[in-house]
Amino acid sequence: MKQLQKDYSSSDSNNIILSLPKLVFCLLLCLFLSLSLTSFSFKSLSTPSLPPPNNHPSVTTHITLPDPAPQPQPDPTQLRHVVFGIGAAANKWARRKEFIKLWWVPNATRGYVFLDRHVDDPGDPNEHPTLQLKVSEDTSSFGYSYRHGSRSALRMTRIVSEIIRATGSDPGQEEIRWVVMGDDDTVFFPSNLVRVLQKYDHNKMYYIGSNSETHVQNINFAYDMAFGGGGFAISYPLALEIEKMQDSCIQRYTSLYGSDDRIHACLAELGVPLTKEPGFHQFDVHGNLFGLLTAHPVAPLVSLHHLEIVDPIFPYMGRLQALQRLKIPTKLDPESLMQQSICYDSRRNWTISVSWGYAVQIIRGSIPPREMQRPARTFFNWQNRDEPSSFSFNTRPFSKHPCEKPYIYYLFNAMFNNEANVTASEYVMHRMPHPWCWWPIDNPERVHRVQVYKKLTDPHKWDEAPRRDCCRVLQADKKNTVAIDVGECKEGEVMEPLLS
Ligand SMILES: *[C@@H]1O[C@H](CO)[C@@H](O)[C@H](O)[C@H]1NC(C)=O
Ligand SMILES: *[C@@H]1O[C@H](CO)[C@@H](O)[C@H](O)[C@H]1NC(C)=O
Ligand SMILES: *[C@@H]1O[C@H](CO)[C@@H](O)[C@H](O)[C@H]1NC(C)=O
Repeated sequence: MKQLQKDYSSSDSNNIILSLPKLVFCLLLCLFLSLSLTSFSFKSLSTPSLPPPNNHPSVTTHITLPDPAPQPQPDPTQLRHVVFGIGAAANKWARRKEFIKLWWVPNATRGYVFLDRHVDDPGDPNEHPTLQLKVSEDTSSFGYSYRHGSRSALRMTRIVSEIIRATGSDPGQEEIRWVVMGDDDTVFFPSNLVRVLQKYDHNKMYYIGSNSETHVQNINFAYDMAFGGGGFAISYPLALEIEKMQDSCIQRYTSLYGSDDRIHACLAELGVPLTKEPGFHQFDVHGNLFGLLTAHPVAPLVSLHHLEIVDPIFPYMGRLQALQRLKIPTKLDPESLMQQSICYDSRRNWTISVSWGYAVQIIRGSIPPREMQRPARTFFNWQNRDEPSSFSFNTRPFSKHPCEKPYIYYLFNAMFNNEANVTASEYVMHRMPHPWCWWPIDNPERVHRVQVYKKLTDPHKWDEAPRRDCCRVLQADKKNTVAIDVGECKEGEVMEPLLS
């Protein structure tokens, strides 16, 4: 090692002081090299340059190479490049298909629903012409030894392979870049999914998703496993590899429970790790998602799951009706959906948190961003218990002090304001009892609505380093309304809590 270092340093000093004969030799070499290099293809020029020939590392600095031709921009991934594989059960199909209808865009979304047997569903193929119902192949020859588990895990696992085989004859096959798996109770936000997939090279082998909110689930399965209900994406080259080995692979893991851990086991054999994207949500929780949704990670919202288990996301509504309410903001500005911004009303000493397209909270006093960005525990863990240490992320109590109980405003409507060139979304107070508060601070109860103005998300926002938007309290002319502007933080802008 020492010897090597010494050699390098001696050759370095050679570069600095060039004797005349060396210089002449060097120039000749340069001429020769520049002649021979011009005949190289552009492809080889774009690869990192090799170390120059021994003893003359300086030669490259003398060669003037022609500018490489601009690389043609590969066309970014679109929805038509994604094929969905939804695992479903015939006995639940009539109910669960309503979840799929929420996000499936007829003639734009592609994919298959895999059922355990044929269902008579004559209306739907016309309603959703690009959604095809398929009966899974027979898996009775495969072993399954997990006690109290369901053999349906086998057919769900094989959806990836069956899609590859099914699309082999599809004329649009060469357009497939990603296979995205989900359950029949997964709700996707397709344009955000596409936005996330655009970050990755579909020609490489990727396994993208997220794990569980409850530690024990990650311990029993794996922290580096994509939980199936939250959905996960597999790039086409990886799906091809899986198709080749999956049937023999799953025979080696007959004692596993589900389909997602079988996929994980086979991907471990292929050596492909999980690429974690925080917008996929398994939601292994019970209760109210409010705390999780209002402190969404700074990443596009990709999926929601277990929506038949948790409370409706808007109060006083059915589950489906509540999800339908997200349709308007999702259409207006999907990439802003649930994105949290935090600001302070210095006049009234309030903390304000906006979760765009969903809810606004007004809290008395000043709670710093580091706390507001933690999900408030409005939910329980997968064992239905309120145990802060059971979650695989930081949480906080819903309110620590009676005066700090948030006033909640839920999305009422949203529209695009052509004149101002911004979206205007309106949030209306959710009436609920509040404990008596003795702080000499204005009572937010007087505020009945909150109006939020926001420019459309910059199309490149998520290509860049993630950053939370800023919000600013505007002077409203109406007494019972708070108006807020949400947008990119300006240079030097800080979400500074109020001093006491
Ligand atoms: C889907 O495409 C078919 C054929 O291109 C067309 O007849 C049908 O009206 C389209 N459906 C919707 C909902 O756009
Ligand atoms: C704002 O409220 C907090 C309570 O969270 C209090 O400690 C602080 O003194 C108040 N600040 C002002 C400027 O009134
Ligand atoms: C509206 O705002 C967008 C950015 O949100 C901008 O690109 C566009 O030029 C604006 N249009 C007008 C008419 O000002």
